[in-house]
Amino acid sequence: MKKNRIEFVYNEHESPLTLEAPYITLVAAAKDACGDAYAPYSNFNVGAAVLLEDGTIVKGSNQENASFPLCICAEANVLSNYGSNFKEIPIVALAVSVQGKEQIKDKPISPCGACRQIISEYQNRQEKEIHIILSSESGRTFEIQNIFNILPLSFGHQDL
Ligand code: THU
Repeated sequence: MKKNRIEFVYNEHESPLTLEAPYITLVAAAKDACGDAYAPYSNFNVGAAVLLEDGTIVKGSNQENASFPLCICAEANVLSNYGSNFKEIPIVALAVSVQGKEQIKDKPISPCGACRQIISEYQNRQEKEIHIILSSESGRTFEIQNIFNILPLSFGHQDL
C-alpha cells in the first residue's frame, strides 16, 4: 500500500482589482451576467463569463425551472453557448460570480461537481488550460490555474 497526496496552490485576492487587467474585465462580465439569471426558486443568481483568445467575452447565467432537476447552472450555460457559437476560438479563462440573498457574502462561488466535469471536457477539447476565477459578492476572489486542480482523479476521454 502507498499513500498518495494531491495538493494544489491557488491565488486569493481581496478584490478582483488586483487580477491582471483582462481578468478584471472578465469578472465584471460574470457579475453583470448575474443580472440575467432566472432563479426564482433559489434566489441565487449566478453569472459566468469566458474570455476567448481574441478578447471576446461570452456570458451566461443560471436558468431555473419549476421542475428543479432541470435547472441549468451558469457555467454549463455559458459553455453550451460558447461551444455552439465560438468553438474555433480557444478559451483562456472562465469567471464565476454570484448575487444571492442569504448566502455567505465572502465565499467565492465554486462550480458544482457536474459543472467541473463539463469544464474539464472543454479544456480537454481545446488542449489548452482554462484558468478559473471564482468571485464572491464581497470581492474575495480565487484564481485557479486550471479545472483539474479542483477535479482531481478526473474521468475523461482518455479513460474510454
Ligand atoms: N448554480 C450555478 O449556476 N452554478 C454553480 O456553480 C452552483 C449553483 C445554480 C444552480 C441553481 O440555479 C442555483 O445556483 C442554486 O443551486
